Amino acid sequence: MSHPIQSVRGMNDGLPDTVETWQAFESIVRDWLRRYGYRELRTPILEHTGLFKRAIGEVTDIVEKEMYTFVDELNGETLTLRPEGTASAVRAAIQHNLLYDGGKRLWYTGPMFRHERPQKGRYRQFHQVGVEALGFGGPDVDAELIVMCADLWRALGIAPTLQLNTLGDAEARQRHRAKLIAHYEQHLDLLDEDGRRRLHSNPLRILDSKNPAMASINDAAPRLMDELGDESRVHFEGVQALLTANGVSFEINPRLVRGLDYYNRTVFEWVTDQLGAQGTVCAGGRYDGLVEQLGGKPAPAAGFAMGIERLLALMETAGAVPEAAGPDVYIVHAGEQAAAHAWRVAAAMRAAGLAVVMHAGGGSFKSQMKKADTSRARYAVIIGDDEAVSGDVTLKSLRVGTEQVRVDPARAIELLK
Ligand code: HAM
Repeated sequence: MSHPIQSVRGMNDGLPDTVETWQAFESIVRDWLRRYGYRELRTPILEHTGLFKRAIGEVTDIVEKEMYTFVDELNGETLTLRPEGTASAVRAAIQHNLLYDGGKRLWYTGPMFRHERPQKGRYRQFHQVGVEALGFGGPDVDAELIVMCADLWRALGIAPTLQLNTLGDAEARQRHRAKLIAHYEQHLDLLDEDGRRRLHSNPLRILDSKNPAMASINDAAPRLMDELGDESRVHFEGVQALLTANGVSFEINPRLVRGLDYYNRTVFEWVTDQLGAQGTVCAGGRYDGLVEQLGGKPAPAAGFAMGIERLLALMETAGAVPEAAGPDVYIVHAGEQAAAHAWRVAAAMRAAGLAVVMHAGGGSFKSQMKKADTSRARYAVIIGDDEAVSGDVTLKSLRVGTEQVRVDPARAIELLK
């Protein structure tokens, strides 16, 4: 036998048990988004590489090291598997002039691709639910986005904590940048390779370094918070007041800068200590410059994305993952006449909305009943020669007791429902 081919490293199969858990999660999420008035957007998984370079920033981990980029040999275009969804959402909004009559509340879900080193909670193909509020500039929308997250955590039975910061406006970041460069220049010997390379191109990214050796020099770095202009300060205070008024507690983390360049003002991360190193389950913030930067009419915007794998892992540690449901019925049957009757019964039950698995492959009643048990069905419907003649079925609970009843199929459907 030849060597079996495995899936690509860092890219996971979703096996049926897991998929059913995901579907339960997705239905909670869809309902939650509907209740907040967000509408779904679906964009392609492939985009022009330039979109991500422009949106996320040339000097970021994602663009420098993590993108799956290739040349389409059929026409020479350079394309990238999307590493995130914000750039695509903004591109689509500009391309289709979605903001012509005011702000839009949008969401999306699907796979994202980053060539990171795989570990628990970090994959090369992972999945996000992303939410983008385009065209709204006030602190009320920042607060809405955060409050709705808190609402979802309650529905999912988890309790991550909220870290909040503000990156101010362009002028504040310019002032901060100058101070940061001066700070790091005094400690050149302590900078790692990335840090030295980014010192003059994107010093804010040094602050975001995951390298523990950089922690002390980053702790001593000048804080953006100290450079805030009045408008950004008032905006940030507005967000905090709304969060407090709506019962959402938060911790201000002046070191929180996010790994993508498009942010300004409010940034936030929902974090947990239950998942080891990959503890951020949801993250986002305001990105008022991005629409214009990608060629649209200037429009403010804010949003966030959550990692589905991480959220489900957190739900698991909280014992909040619902057990996947089996079918309603497993039909066992033996004999030609019984099989014909079984097909009719199955069709009637399915038409009535029941989930019915029909035994395939023959075998004794005993071996078929074993299959019925492992299927996790609620009931077995047993059809032998007697039932085939009378047109009845025997209904046997596989969960409680061993009692069985012999009834006609219509009655069986009533009982099952
Ligand atoms: P991000 O922080 O890069 O932001 O990703 C958001 C979330 O996606 C993370 O907090 C994490 O839960 C999950 N995630 C990221 N990378 C991986 C990975 N390799 N494996 C598993 N999960 C991962 C964004 O993507 C922004 N687009 C969020 C946003 C939307 N900001 C404004 N609007």
